[in-house]
Amino acid sequence: MKISKNMQKALNNQITLEASASNSYMAMASWCEVTGYEGGASFFYAQSDEERTHMLKFIHYLNNLGISAVIPATKSPASNFKSLESILKTALKNEQTVTTAIHKMVEISQKDKDHSTYAFLEWFVNEQVQEETKFETLIQKFELIGRDKIAINEIDKTLAATAAAPADATA
Ligand SMILES: [Fe+2]
Ligand SMILES: [Fe+2]
Repeated sequence: MKISKNMQKALNNQITLEASASNSYMAMASWCEVTGYEGGASFFYAQSDEERTHMLKFIHYLNNLGISAVIPATKSPASNFKSLESILKTALKNEQTVTTAIHKMVEISQKDKDHSTYAFLEWFVNEQVQEETKFETLIQKFELIGRDKIAINEIDKTLAATAAAPADATA
């Protein structure tokens, strides 16, 4: 089965996006760990693992088609953060960028009448809906509970619970 050069390029580019997301969430986890946000740390370490799993899905998809996946170098992620809230907002923006990239790939697959890649991407379309909702819900907590020390501690506990119970256990 053949896929277009354009599609191959987009899929390889997605490997870079997932790798960057994984690194960036790892940096966030590390900052949380050092700052004392235990929930934030376990949430973002788990999130980083999840993005690595996504990256592997793209690598295997390309390799199984006989197209060698390109393992990318990634830029150093930001490592100095202001607050738990700002981290979550940055993460949501990152997820929105990924969603746009996934949707662009779906459009390429439709244009190419590439049904296999279209079917492969469906999982990611659904995953991105869950990812955006997850971060939006967490960000909302700051409006609902507040931003004082007790509120932030509560939110950190919510992050621990979210890490322990991922929305999609198959991810
Ligand atoms: Fe991802
Ligand atoms: Fe994600």
